[in-house]
Amino acid sequence: MQVAAILLLLALALVTPSSSAERKCVLTGFWINDLGSNMTINSVNKAGEFSGMYHTAVTATSRKIRISPLQGSQHRENNSNQPTFGFTVNWSYSGSTTVFVGQCFVDEDGREILKTMWLLREQVGSLGDDWKATRVGVNVFVRRAPRRE
Ligand code: BTN
Repeated sequence: MQVAAILLLLALALVTPSSSAERKCVLTGFWINDLGSNMTINSVNKAGEFSGMYHTAVTATSRKIRISPLQGSQHRENNSNQPTFGFTVNWSYSGSTTVFVGQCFVDEDGREILKTMWLLREQVGSLGDDWKATRVGVNVFVRRAPRRE
């Protein structure tokens, strides 16, 4: 009887994640970043591809902000619990495009966090303005509760 109990405990220890890093970080859901921008990521397919919507809190233009579509993919190899990913936001209200690249982590408290870097390409009128057309930065996203519309 005692041997059975020990074996059961051993089996449980083997299948139960022992640290937060072993918990899976999942991109699907609602996220908010350090600027207050919100994004929704739909389900990720078997190839790691996903789509979603991005509501930026800030803009480099004088135009009215509109919710914009995003398309991305995450790594599926190595069956990683903390996958790398990238996505592109095609801004609906300007000629700009932003690409984000990052990694999905699970922190020590078991919370998912997306650490990203981005490049924002603005559409400029001439080749001579190309030098000033690209901005770079970082954003950190955490999960948020779904919004009640
Ligand atoms: C534009 O201004 O033409 C489009 C909006 C760009 C918003 C940028 S993208 C990188 C950074 N992170 C955000 O959440 N918003 C800004």
